[in-house]
Amino acid sequence: MKIGSVDLPSPFAVAPMAGMTDTAFRRLVKRHGGCGLVVTEMVSAEGLVRGIDRTLEYAEYTEEERPVSIQIFGGDPDKMAAAAQIVEGMGADIVDVNMGCPVPKIAKHNAGCSLMREPAHAASVIAAMAKAVKIPVTVKMRAGWNDEEKNAPDLARMVEDAGAAAVAVHGRTAAQSYSGLADWDIVARIADALTIPVFGSGDCIEPEQVVARMRAGVEGVLVGRGVLRNPWILAQALDLAAGRPARTVTMADRGQFLLDYIDLLKNERIDESRAVSHDRWIVNKLRALGSWYTKGLDNGSHLRAAINAADSLPALCEMVGAFFFADEPVAAESVAAGN
Ligand SMILES: Cc1cc2nc3c(=O)[nH]c(=O)nc-3n(C[C@H](O)[C@H](O)[C@H](O)COP(=O)(O)O)c2cc1C
Repeated sequence: MKIGSVDLPSPFAVAPMAGMTDTAFRRLVKRHGGCGLVVTEMVSAEGLVRGIDRTLEYAEYTEEERPVSIQIFGGDPDKMAAAAQIVEGMGADIVDVNMGCPVPKIAKHNAGCSLMREPAHAASVIAAMAKAVKIPVTVKMRAGWNDEEKNAPDLARMVEDAGAAAVAVHGRTAAQSYSGLADWDIVARIADALTIPVFGSGDCIEPEQVVARMRAGVEGVLVGRGVLRNPWILAQALDLAAGRPARTVTMADRGQFLLDYIDLLKNERIDESRAVSHDRWIVNKLRALGSWYTKGLDNGSHLRAAINAADSLPALCEMVGAFFFADEPVAAESVAAGN
């Protein structure tokens, strides 16, 4: 499938997740297969235009992640167009606009999901961006602001007319935040009405659900929390879609993922003066991932508590080794040695 002229090797993608889908995590998911597109954490258009270092860091990616979409948020058409040009200059394949974030800090600045409340203005943002860049401009929205304003079908058509190359819809309203269930009927209606590709997002935890959601008529599925729990879910979904059994993932595989993530993080953001040490930053990153990664695992709550209690990076590595490699003394030794 394609978004504009960009070929996606699979219809299954990693959804943007602030604080979670950093370049290290995206690289690892990509290496495990099945991933047609990665989207960065949301990045402030204002920060990009002002050249703020921390903002630029959020937009960093590596070649192995391609095709890569950088998601920006903001509400001013000129600034969004300028930010899109910066994203294009950074070599990204796609620039995506966040119209789904319900967090007041973002929404009150006329950005994120509050753009859905002003559809004409939202369309003018997309028109300005599409005019400013050659790479595809895409939009990620929710079903609407609340139950009374479930206007994603109208807005999707308006942004298509304004030049969007694809739309992704998370079938919850901003008011719902993450409660209840995503409304895939509204996703299906939008997929039916638009000529550009439509992606659906919401509540795919098992690979079977990812494949089943394609029946809504979408071109692809963005998986968020399911990837944080199981980074192999996209590869497994692709297996199922191809008529193969889903690949099995062992405890050792799961442990190795965390160790590989730690290894990649060791080489990220090392030359920066920050309030916390680099090791502490990695521990915090593992805690954030651990709160999702441990869900559904036997003894997952114990692992989660242990990750939260680990007070140093070596202690964390040792604990991961003990939990995942209990039956594999060789791997456990190499973990304890800090490899
Ligand atoms: C921790 C977290 C951070 C998120 N950050 C973003 C974001 O930066 N931009 C965005 O468009 N959506 C964001 N989302 C929404 C997801 O992309 C996705 O649409 C939503 O979680 C529903 O899909 P899921 O059930 O597969 O997680 C975030 C979701 C989570 C759980």
